[in-house]
This record gives sequence, C-alpha cells and structure tokens, in this order.
Amino acid sequence: MAVDLKGRSFLTLKDYTPEEIRYLLDLAHRLKADKKAGKIGHSLDGKNIVLIFDKTSTRTRCSFEVACYDEGGHVTFLSNSQMGKKESLEDTARVLGRLYDGIEYRGFEQRVVEQLAEFSGVPVWNGLTDMFHPTQILADLMTIEESVSKPLKEVKLVYAGDARNNMGNSLMIGCAKMGMSFAAFAPKELWPEEKLVSEAKAIAAQTGASIEFSEDVSVVEGADVLYTDVWVSMGEEALFEERIRKLSPYRITMDVVRRTGNEDVIFLHCLPSFHDLGTSVGREIYEKYGITEMEVSDEVFRSRYSRAFDEAENRMHTIKAVMVATLGDLSRNG
Ligand code: CP
Ligand code: NVA
Repeated sequence: MAVDLKGRSFLTLKDYTPEEIRYLLDLAHRLKADKKAGKIGHSLDGKNIVLIFDKTSTRTRCSFEVACYDEGGHVTFLSNSQMGKKESLEDTARVLGRLYDGIEYRGFEQRVVEQLAEFSGVPVWNGLTDMFHPTQILADLMTIEESVSKPLKEVKLVYAGDARNNMGNSLMIGCAKMGMSFAAFAPKELWPEEKLVSEAKAIAAQTGASIEFSEDVSVVEGADVLYTDVWVSMGEEALFEERIRKLSPYRITMDVVRRTGNEDVIFLHCLPSFHDLGTSVGREIYEKYGITEMEVSDEVFRSRYSRAFDEAENRMHTIKAVMVATLGDLSRNG
C-alpha cells in the first residue's frame, strides 16, 4: 500500500514503520536533489508553522525555518510563551491548533510533545526532548546512505558515550527499525532503560536488526559508522564532573577509529560537539579538569572520516521531508 503520512505527528520513530521511514528518507533525497537543481518548492504554500523552543538550538531551528521557507510556508519562532506557566499545556495546544497548521516542539519531557499532538489537532514534530530526537536520526540515516556504500541493513553503527540520552535511545530505535546492527560502547550505568531496550529488541526481531551493549572497545570492530554525542545533555549541566570520570574511556580517538579495522568507517556526531577549546563551556571544563576535548578527539573530528557537516546539512533536507509528508501538497511542486 502507498505510504500516506498526511496529518500525522512525528513524535518518536517508534510510531513509524520501516516503510514509512524509508519513504521519508527517499523524499529527503529527492528534495535535496531538487534544491541542488535550483527548483523552488510550493508544497507548503499558505501553511503557518510555529516553532517552540524551550531549549537552545542552532541546527534544528534553522532547519525548520529554511525548510519551511523553501517550500513556501511561514514560521513563527516562540521561545517565551505562556505554555505551562500562565496557561496549561492543553489550552496552549488548543490555541496554537487554531492559528497554525503544524507545531514543532523542543524541550524537556516527551509528555509535552505528546500532549501538544493530542490537543492541538495539527501535526506536531519532535525537535528534541530528553527522551528522543527523531528528526536527527533521519539526517543520520540519510548521511549514512550517502557515505557508506552498503544498504542500511548491512551497516554496523556503534554509538559511544552516554547511551541513555535522547541520541542513544533514538539511534537504537532507528537502527532497529531499519534492520541495522546497533552497538552501544558505554558504561553499563549509561545504557538505555530496560523497557526501551526490550522494545528495540522486539522491533529488531521483526526487521533482522541486532542490538548489542558493551563496555569493551572491541565492540567497534567491523563498524561502518562511529557515532558519539555530548557527555552532558541540555538540562544536565550539573553532571560534568561525574560524566567526564565515567565517559573518558569511551572518547572516540584515532585508536578507536583504527580498532574498527575499516578504512572506510565514517564518524558522525549530531553536534554541537566539545572537540576543542572553541567554546566557553569547553574553556571552563579545561580550567577545571584540564581536558581539551571530550566525546571525540579534535583529530577525529577534523579527519577525513568525519561526515558531521554533511549530517548537519541533512537535518534541513530530512526535516523538510517530514513537514512536506505530513502537511504539504507535493503536487504543487510539479
Ligand atoms: N543536532 C541538533 O539538534 O543541533 P541543535 O541543538 O543546534 O538544534
Ligand atoms: N544529547 C544532546 C543532543 C543535542 C542535539 C542534548 O540533548 O543536549
């Protein structure tokens, strides 16, 4: 049956079938090619979209804005609303649903995107919560398809570091959905919660994916993709000392890259990244703990293995695909 995502929210990849994710990736590849060919989109003509950010962002906000403008829509950026303070989430959702055709939300609890979807009556897109970051995973899968000369089902992705954050959780689910080999190289106390691992394993049993966790670096052997994320996510800033102590053995260095045994391995990072002293936070950490890089060495970050900036660009193409598929009218693009 043809995939039809009209009117759907995008809250977690758990809600999407492998065929639906495939459809979004194919659409993203097509929209990227169209943009490179200079084609102007109209699929979101007349649509108004609100972008709610309760946490900071560069890529996600800019991707939603550019993607929307590229397809003829309009955006409002909202970072200081009444929601949850002077007005309930439910009432705010009902108001925004009257004014807007789609809502993006970035913040803390997954419950918030779920309730926005429940009460607004329009598609809601998860731009990152503490639990999941599903639009990022689409960009990651797209980048893998561009850079690894194997179908996704044959790709082994190893995620190093904080495996129970939004990226660890979402990559595990995304890889399971697409029949990939997912391995987390992380200390046991930072593995994803058991309930989510069971869900991922149940999906994997259907798709032929494998899910593995290890504290031993040998798990990177044979990897096609090495992935990492910050050791301290937004909202967890009190945890730097503990995380540096726990996660330093899991930094992606050239030794780890060599240990894959794969000269064609690629390095991915959702960004932002602490790989040098170019940030105020990085400099504070250096003053306090004497380290100049955290989750990835500067050498790997800047190496020929790194596809982090292709990945950042692909945020826009994949977010565009999500908005167009759930809200747009592609027949207007000719
Ligand atoms: N990767 C990502 O979500 O980046 P931003 O926090 O800049 O949006
Ligand atoms: N885990 C990170 C991802 C940033 C895109 C965070 O939540 O801060």
